[in-house]
Amino acid sequence: MALTLSSHSTLGVASLLFISFHIAIISSQAAIAATADEYNVVSLGAKPDGVTDSTRAFVGAWLAACSSEKPATISVPPGRFLVGGATFSGPCKSNAIRWRIQGVITAPADYNVLGNVGTWLLFQHVDGMSISGGILDGRGAALWACKASGKNCPSGATTILFSNSRNIVVRKLTSLNSQLFHIVINGCQNVRLQGVKVFASGESPNTDGVHVQLSSGVAIMSSKIGTGDDCVSVGAGTTNLWIENVACGPGHGISIGSLGKDLEEAGVENVTVKNVVFGGTQNGLRIKSWGRPSTGFAKNILFQHAIMSNVKNPIVIDQNYCPNNINCPGQFSGVKISDVTYQDIHGTSATEVAVKFDCSPKNPCTGIRIEDVKITYRNDQQPAQASCVNAGGLAFGLVQPSSCL
Ligand SMILES: *[C@@H]1O[C@H](CO)[C@@H](O)[C@H](O)[C@H]1NC(C)=O
Repeated sequence: MALTLSSHSTLGVASLLFISFHIAIISSQAAIAATADEYNVVSLGAKPDGVTDSTRAFVGAWLAACSSEKPATISVPPGRFLVGGATFSGPCKSNAIRWRIQGVITAPADYNVLGNVGTWLLFQHVDGMSISGGILDGRGAALWACKASGKNCPSGATTILFSNSRNIVVRKLTSLNSQLFHIVINGCQNVRLQGVKVFASGESPNTDGVHVQLSSGVAIMSSKIGTGDDCVSVGAGTTNLWIENVACGPGHGISIGSLGKDLEEAGVENVTVKNVVFGGTQNGLRIKSWGRPSTGFAKNILFQHAIMSNVKNPIVIDQNYCPNNINCPGQFSGVKISDVTYQDIHGTSATEVAVKFDCSPKNPCTGIRIEDVKITYRNDQQPAQASCVNAGGLAFGLVQPSSCL
């Protein structure tokens, strides 16, 4: 914007100076707004056609945002964007990077492209970032079919991984049909997932909805998760985890574990799971550990206000975990489970044993507390059972099936 003196030659000198000064301010503000450190992936070369590889534009937008001193927004407009394996690394100059996603980000159609890289979209060493909206389409179905056929297939990729990062908020993101885990939080502090949706077939292998490990201060709120594996899985080294208002199904439930895979393992502590609904899942509220020595533990766990609808194992602690009974370690679990509360859990079990505590002979479960739990079998037609092995604790209020603690 150029202001020429000649066009204002009738104005007095004072007002001229004032006007040009004023315009200079407006134009510099406009310049800030226009570049407001906003990076649109389409301006950087991404094509919303679903077939052109837009990886470079996405990584370019990240590099620009991450090197900006000011808060920066990366915008992904409507359309389908094909993105291959991409790493978004910090540390960044500002701690306010925002992704505003309106479109769909899709993985390559050929699962071999990401087959052995482990992760599709990796964020690492980032402090202060939010992601709002968007759909991530992992296109995992062909890989699941390959695995089901018994052929030799790549293991596949986690859709989105946050690693060694902090102060992350993810709002209203949808993750579809991941090849492997959908969302993984590893080695992070203060991560909030809010209004997230995760969907994959109930038959899809290892497609956990959200997996958390070695992280503290993670919250998963108001989310809907249906997959072929755990809706949420909580791995070793997770502390101060909060899960609230989550609907789970299909899937294997909300699981702490599997723990005790390694001899030296960090514990799980202070986990709250409240206001959750399970529909037709394999498990409801589960804690599982392998039957082998380990320094791992799980303590101070609260399961509160849950509704089960036709769940195979509504309440379960399994310290002889060994899926498909292949290569089972067959030892006593070293994982110590203590102070686990089940409060206000209601609904129906799809099997006769609705409550099962199978704890370690070496480290019996202690401080289990059951209060106001009523689970029936086959919609009240038959009484459900509870089974306890090496489990100690107390029951309060109405507990049905009656407590075996
Ligand atoms: C337990 O975790 C919650 C967050 O999930 C946190 O607010 C609370 O302070 C933690 N309690 C302890 C004793 O650390």
